[in-house]
Amino acid sequence: MSLPRRLTGPGLDAGPRDRLGRPLRDLRLSVIEACNFRCPYCMPADRVGDDHGLDAASRLSFDEIETLVRGFARLGVNKLRLTGGEPLLRRHLARLVQRLAVIPGVDDIALTTNGSLLAGQARALRDAGLGRITVSLDTLDPSRFAQLSGGRGRLEDVMRGLDAAVDAGFGPIKLNCVVQRDVNDEQVLPLVAFARERGHVMRFIEYMDVGTCNGWRRDRVVPSAALRDTIDARWPLRALQPHYRGEVAERYAFVDGGGEVGFVSSVTAPFCGDCHRARVSADGTLYTCLFAGSGQPLRPLLAGGDVALSDHVGGLWQRRADRYSEERDSPLASRRHVEMFLVGG
Ligand code: GTP
Ligand code: 5AD
Ligand code: SF4
Ligand code: SF4
Repeated sequence: MSLPRRLTGPGLDAGPRDRLGRPLRDLRLSVIEACNFRCPYCMPADRVGDDHGLDAASRLSFDEIETLVRGFARLGVNKLRLTGGEPLLRRHLARLVQRLAVIPGVDDIALTTNGSLLAGQARALRDAGLGRITVSLDTLDPSRFAQLSGGRGRLEDVMRGLDAAVDAGFGPIKLNCVVQRDVNDEQVLPLVAFARERGHVMRFIEYMDVGTCNGWRRDRVVPSAALRDTIDARWPLRALQPHYRGEVAERYAFVDGGGEVGFVSSVTAPFCGDCHRARVSADGTLYTCLFAGSGQPLRPLLAGGDVALSDHVGGLWQRRADRYSEERDSPLASRRHVEMFLVGG
């Protein structure tokens, strides 16, 4: 796996720091706010209608996105993740990847997808220069899968997508599972077995109170520590060092050499102290936290080019003080949050 240069490479000190001393290194860019699934923890069908989405003109064009990414790269961003909604619904995504993959400074370009449309696009994305793919996978049971995608998805399509991604040369592929008590927690060991067999990296994510419409309940959160113990009892684990400072997932290797597994524990072990991530929605709004109540419109600046954009964003970043996951339990923490499907996780 290619590692971000962040630990050693040039530019470690480059760019602005926020009010908590954190640099900006990672841009998560949504290319579309629509999704063909309706996962209840993100975009519940009874809250987000079929017609949800912007008209195409409200989305940044590829020219605008390229200017935006060049501007962020000037500030020290070296890691780019394309998200949605479901990013593979954006027409000609591979053409965009081709343009972004050659931007100086961006040395890691990844995609988060639900995998349902991957079979038809994996090869083109690889050829365009996409480096890594993460696929959401919450269960291996076909009927439960259909249910957890809001009645819209078929497990077999995702399986075909994974095979196509492997054939196209992606690997190791990360698999993200959001674990909910009494919903899919019994799937943890089967998912680990599947990932080990196929050479994928399984990651378990604590169910979060993102957005405003998923009806989050704390008693549905399964702490990562409990999952780790369950997995360790079946396949002994040993802790691994992070790939880079501020890595979101805590990584563990299987002692028997069967690969690795990761845990994202934003509820029980917040990692805001090293949060170097900015998010931009498909309409060009900057959010400096996954739980931000509001964002800053960047689109009007893009006509002025990447230098003007980076000057503006640099100023905004210096005013940032977000640390929602560390403040979650405070009565002062805001309950207004951007929707997950606008910023893609
Ligand atoms: P790589 O290390 O580049 O592979 O990416 P990653 O670990 O950031 O992976 P990914 O984008 O798959 O993130 C996994 C999940 O972690 C996301 O879908 C979110 O649910 C959660 N997550 C990512 N970044 C943050 C963050 O800044 N704050 C919180 N609270 N959760 C995050
Ligand atoms: N809690 C945790 N993770 C979530 N995701 C979406 N909604 C939630 C939530 N409520 C993450 C999943 C999915 C990615 C696109 O967003 O990891 O794979
Ligand atoms: Fe769509 Fe991903 Fe949200 Fe599910 S988690 S509704 S696949 S954007
Ligand atoms: Fe960063 Fe906000 Fe997540 Fe904390 S809660 S890690 S500040 S995105």
